[in-house]
Amino acid sequence: MWTVTPSPDLVGSVFGLFEFSPNAYCRISPSGLVIAVNVKAGAILGLSHREIVGTPFSVFVTESTLNTFNRFLCDCAGSSGSVHVCKLPMYRRDGAEFLGRLETFSTGTGWCTSSCTFALEDLTKLVEAQGVLEKRDNELQAATIELRNLTNHVMNIREEERRRIASDIHDDLGQRLTAMNLGLHWLSTKTDDQPDFVHSRILELMKMNSDTLSAVQDLARRLRPKLLDKLGLKDALVMLVADIGKRGGPTSKVVYEVARATLDPIVSITIYRLAQECLSNILKHAKANHMTLTLREEDDQLIFTAVDDGGGVGRKEQDGNTSLGLIGMRERALHLGGSFSISNGEGSGTKVEIVIPLSPKDTYDNA
Ligand SMILES: Nc1ncnc2c1ncn2[C@@H]1O[C@H](COP(=O)(O)OP(=O)(O)OP(=O)(O)O)[C@@H](O)[C@H]1O
Ligand SMILES: [Mg+2]
Repeated sequence: MWTVTPSPDLVGSVFGLFEFSPNAYCRISPSGLVIAVNVKAGAILGLSHREIVGTPFSVFVTESTLNTFNRFLCDCAGSSGSVHVCKLPMYRRDGAEFLGRLETFSTGTGWCTSSCTFALEDLTKLVEAQGVLEKRDNELQAATIELRNLTNHVMNIREEERRRIASDIHDDLGQRLTAMNLGLHWLSTKTDDQPDFVHSRILELMKMNSDTLSAVQDLARRLRPKLLDKLGLKDALVMLVADIGKRGGPTSKVVYEVARATLDPIVSITIYRLAQECLSNILKHAKANHMTLTLREEDDQLIFTAVDDGGGVGRKEQDGNTSLGLIGMRERALHLGGSFSISNGEGSGTKVEIVIPLSPKDTYDNA
């Protein structure tokens, strides 16, 4: 065995590295006295490093966590080549508490026979920063929930308003136009002694009146299909799809495989509005020849899909959160505890899928 005697230069360099390292280091004896600390460790503990040397390190450890500290020291003496870390509340010289982190690398020489060197870190700022981040995160989550609730509230109000306007248009305007039609019809039977142009003018007015009545009924139906309330979702969807056909849209079909007799009105109107947006998107963007709307009930879930054979949807739209039509659909689905996705279909086209959980029992069947 041979030993190397370090040169004074080497000792000086190593000492300098220890003393002025940006990391804090302490070295303590088997009896727990501080043998050496560097400048950074002194700064953390609030003493000049010279003042600390010779002090039992336990004075910086709170009484309640002294056991944790002693266990850390025993671990240091344990198996060779392992890193040991402990976090514990500690004191500075002025009595201020901080959260310390001690880390050592055990060489296996045994704590009881040799001194122990460990790195010391003050985690106060990190903990504070984590606290601030956590608080911001909570605030953000709360704001998101608030915004979602507000959106839902606005959607519900809009839905209610549409229902009211639709019924005003249907019941008030519709009745007046029907009455006017009856009046014109009556008038047309009393024009025998009038010139022909009076008779034909009355017929023109009758035609104009019944066109206006159809337009008004159509408007009321678009605002809130009476069928949805009267006959249910299936017929309302069939009418919606038929309307798309009339407007030059793709050929389409509705597959309706829902076992329950009735659905919660909120679920019905949500599916109806989702279908409206899907159809409007297909008309506007897809350039499709065919599309299928499917509503299936499966394991207490409603699965709604709108599949077309058009040009497909871009990745940005599939991931994005900036486009209002798609955001609205996602929000409606989330409001009912469901999920929304839009993707390219198998082969070609676009597939929108919305899954909405249903109550396990047939709660709504007697509604
Ligand atoms: N069936 C589809 N086929 C092809 N592209 C689609 C389809 N559905 C949606 N997209 C694409 O996704 C984009 C976002 O749709 P979204 O409904 O959010 O907006 P929009 O229809 O352009 O406008 P808005 O719905 O607000 O009137 C569309 O601009 C279109 O590029
Ligand atoms: Mg749209």
